[in-house]
Amino acid sequence: MAETRGIGRRQFLGIGGALGLTAVTGLTAAAGLARHPASTGDQLRSGVPLPPAFQVPLPLPSVLKPVSTSGGVDRYEITQREATLEVLPGVKTPMWTYGGTFPGPTIEARRGRPVTVTHHNGLPVPTVVHLHGGRTPAASDGYPTDLVLPKNWREPASPIVHGMHGAHDMSGMDHMDGMDGMDGMQGMQGMQGMQDPKAVVTRLTRDYTFPMDQRPTLLWYHDHRMDFTAPAIWRGLAGLHIIRDDAEDSLGLPSGPRELPLMIADRAFDDNGNLHYPSLDPTLRDQPGVEEAFHAGVLGDVILVNGAPWPVHEVDAARYRLRVLNASNARHYDLEAVTDDGHRLDLVQVGADQGLLAAPVTHRTLPIAPAERYDVVVDFTKVQVGGRVRIVNRLGSGRTRDVLAFRVARKAADHSRIPRLLSHDLPNWRRADATRTRDFSFRAGRMHGGHGWLIGGVPFDPARSDVTTRLGDVEVWRLIADVHHPVHLHLVGFRVLSRRGRKALPHDAGLKDTVSLRPGEAAEIITRFDGYRGRYLFHCHNAEHEDMGMMANLDII
Ligand code: C2O
Ligand code: CU
Ligand code: CU
Repeated sequence: MAETRGIGRRQFLGIGGALGLTAVTGLTAAAGLARHPASTGDQLRSGVPLPPAFQVPLPLPSVLKPVSTSGGVDRYEITQREATLEVLPGVKTPMWTYGGTFPGPTIEARRGRPVTVTHHNGLPVPTVVHLHGGRTPAASDGYPTDLVLPKNWREPASPIVHGMHGAHDMSGMDHMDGMDGMDGMQGMQGMQGMQDPKAVVTRLTRDYTFPMDQRPTLLWYHDHRMDFTAPAIWRGLAGLHIIRDDAEDSLGLPSGPRELPLMIADRAFDDNGNLHYPSLDPTLRDQPGVEEAFHAGVLGDVILVNGAPWPVHEVDAARYRLRVLNASNARHYDLEAVTDDGHRLDLVQVGADQGLLAAPVTHRTLPIAPAERYDVVVDFTKVQVGGRVRIVNRLGSGRTRDVLAFRVARKAADHSRIPRLLSHDLPNWRRADATRTRDFSFRAGRMHGGHGWLIGGVPFDPARSDVTTRLGDVEVWRLIADVHHPVHLHLVGFRVLSRRGRKALPHDAGLKDTVSLRPGEAAEIITRFDGYRGRYLFHCHNAEHEDMGMMANLDII
């Protein structure tokens, strides 16, 4: 049980840097964490022989083709299904996939042009899709109880489907034509007996509509089922979604084959090549949660990039734009680009979670927490042809120190540039604009008689209202953590105002949707609750913490 002594709300602002010293907890000791732990969580060990690093070519997720582009809307279909993939060379691994691949197919969208994705659930359990970073109406935001039930689903413990209540409640879903067996079910009982009368449950399929009325950036879509998000993502339910616009295209940043999406995720494999994960209920039907030893988070000993272990990619001696996502459940990375002869290449950050920065920021190393994205340009021009650049994780050890490598294959012309001004539309909210300041602690605690992770001392309950705010209001939120907690808000982007009572860090630049709180750290963020009214969420994006209660409702009225 974590405790941070002597920190009342009043004192919160003033104490800044002192917090790091007080957040020493029994939990962190139990999890084997050092004073400055690299990650919060415990690592699984794979049972199959692991391939050497930098041998497997880097895969690039295929870009999904729309089934229709008429009426100004791009329409896509994705079937969620089991598939056996070769993740490790020569090893067959059954996974849960979007469309048969891991990562799922990439959706390429244009700003202002709506996208509708029809998802079919061909998996053995309920699912729900969330577009992370999307400015999405609540009905399509993937609230954790808005489930799409699979064929023949019977709630293990008690019936969850409450028949045909109130057809009027389905009015927001009239775009769901063609739904196979959509019969207006309402109400959902959480796996731990929590009732959610507002849940909108469908059978087999659901349309998700994304207006794409937002800044261009790299988003990702992933499963968000209540209590089971972590194992579902681990099994493969994650894919990329990129928004572009003409302004960004005209900047001259590296593009085409010199723009690379990189989804980094750790996994572990058992001796039969199956994904290894410490679920209490491996069917993911009934009992949520992980074995006690992993309640701080699940780490794998294999680092995958775009679904391949420690891959290598051949590049020109030129600038490349790397669109990096940390899709790991709990693992943090501190990325560094080093040549084989020991030189470090700069990581020139041009964008954050929610799109372009105002101006580039140059980093020597770049920390990236679960769900964060960084848009960085790396210049291979000065690397010798035949030379190699490794991207390493300074927080890893042994095999988990390596991430991927680039092999510089040839000299080539490069007409790309990194403009000194990247964007002009970053919101610049000030404290004085805020109508409210709220405090939230992110800490270990008890939940349903067991171990949990709490926001403001309570575990997630879909039926409770936690934050109610008015559309258009600006608020400052002060977040404080015991161990690592990457905190994510749905719907909105925010700016980081401060850390430990001091100014934000260089990698906090731009517009974020996930902020990485480090052990004992307090940070302030500011945002405007803009876009749509409805029921949204904020939560820790350590996926195990999220499943163990570290989530809260955000109602915009
Ligand atoms: Cu990427 Cu609510 O999550
Ligand atoms: Cu999200
Ligand atoms: Cu957390």
